[in-house]
Amino acid sequence: MSKAKRILIVGGGGREHALAWRCAHEGHEVHVAPGNAGIALDATCHAVSAGDIDGLLQLSMQLGVDLVVIGPEQPLVDGLADRLHHLGVPTVGPSSAAAELEGSKAAAKAFMARHNIPTAAYRTVAHLEDGLAAVRSFEQPPVVKASGLAGGKGVTVPDTMEEAEAAVRECLDGGRFGTAGSTVVLEQRLYGQEVSLFVLSDGTNYMTMAAAQDHKRLLDGDKGPNTGGMGAYCPAPIFTSELRERVSREIVAPTLAGLRGEGRPFVGVLFIGLMLTAQGPSVIEYNCRFGDPETQPLLFGLREPLVPHLAALASGQLSPGHLACDPAVTVVLASEGYPRSPVKGVAIRGLDRVADMPGVKVFHAGTARDDEDGKWITAGGRVLGVCAKGNDLQTAIKRAYAACEHLEFEGMHHRSDIGVRALTPPLT
Ligand code: AMP
Ligand code: GLY
Repeated sequence: MSKAKRILIVGGGGREHALAWRCAHEGHEVHVAPGNAGIALDATCHAVSAGDIDGLLQLSMQLGVDLVVIGPEQPLVDGLADRLHHLGVPTVGPSSAAAELEGSKAAAKAFMARHNIPTAAYRTVAHLEDGLAAVRSFEQPPVVKASGLAGGKGVTVPDTMEEAEAAVRECLDGGRFGTAGSTVVLEQRLYGQEVSLFVLSDGTNYMTMAAAQDHKRLLDGDKGPNTGGMGAYCPAPIFTSELRERVSREIVAPTLAGLRGEGRPFVGVLFIGLMLTAQGPSVIEYNCRFGDPETQPLLFGLREPLVPHLAALASGQLSPGHLACDPAVTVVLASEGYPRSPVKGVAIRGLDRVADMPGVKVFHAGTARDDEDGKWITAGGRVLGVCAKGNDLQTAIKRAYAACEHLEFEGMHHRSDIGVRALTPPLT
């Protein structure tokens, strides 16, 4: 085995817990900034926020880290990877110029148009009158997207032209998303199943991971409001090896070549949100980082070590290939009131009961320790990601829900159908 590395992970949610656990499990020394109370079980946490770029640079130098992995998008868009690169610190995370694919949906659409990458037809608007006129130029109500970073809340999928117009007004007249909504992308609505594909890239070579499916809606049957993600599973059986080859050829390769050709090679994890339409796969969005919660089952079920690939990626020496993963699922346990106004600070019971369950790992997204007695309490809308793996998806799902039975906190709720759509023949 290669020498143990000292790794700094930036961020403090379920995704970062999965990354920290994975790296520690592979025998590396793991630091996380800022981390959370649960992450502190698997790594050393440092009180530096993910937005404090100077603080993170200082911490990296102080620790003498061999590798930095950046979890959230904002510091990437703000240039953290550029600054680390400048200091010579191997980093998993793209430059600010490459992170524009996530930071500006308008720029991402223009990029796809330039490079003939399949995506929905669109218009970009910045003025209310143009926006309202553009809505009416679509035959069906278009999807309305705030162009900038809006914490996953900037997209409206309207059923009527009036709803589409109202969403445009909210962005361009009401200032709902601030500057993130001062440019709006209107996009033809696509139909099909969505998959999340993560691609490790050193700028030239790439490695795909198993396709995952997220469950964004709050309630069973994909009902209720959108959330940060109520669960995920992988690999998605709908994403066959033929589809993987097609997506590699039509989407992944031209995206990476396009960025390289524009002088902004992508060094990091490219997350491609795909809609599998009747006409073929189409890009819904790009993200410039690992996704949450998909990273949890992907890294828990991974069949081989991750860190050697992350290190190779950061030093421009990635071997092309595919990272396979055993069937795995994550069920998110959320607080009362999530996603609107989650109640926090209530006691969590049962973590000790699930600690040794075979094939189960609980990742912490929003937990803390009570100041007085050190007991576990909730500290966010999404509290825990209950992750399980098995020889087949059914076993993984059963294990995850069996573990959920042992966990409780006042107001706790979760979906009961995570991964279930993959157990029936997929509907396309
Ligand atoms: P995004 O933040 O771009 O991932 O969009 C959030 C969600 O909106 C996606 O996961 C899709 O479910 C939905 N969405 C975005 N664009 C489209 C589209 N063109 N057609 C249908 N649904 C879409
Ligand atoms: N799972 C969606 C995201 O991380 O943006």
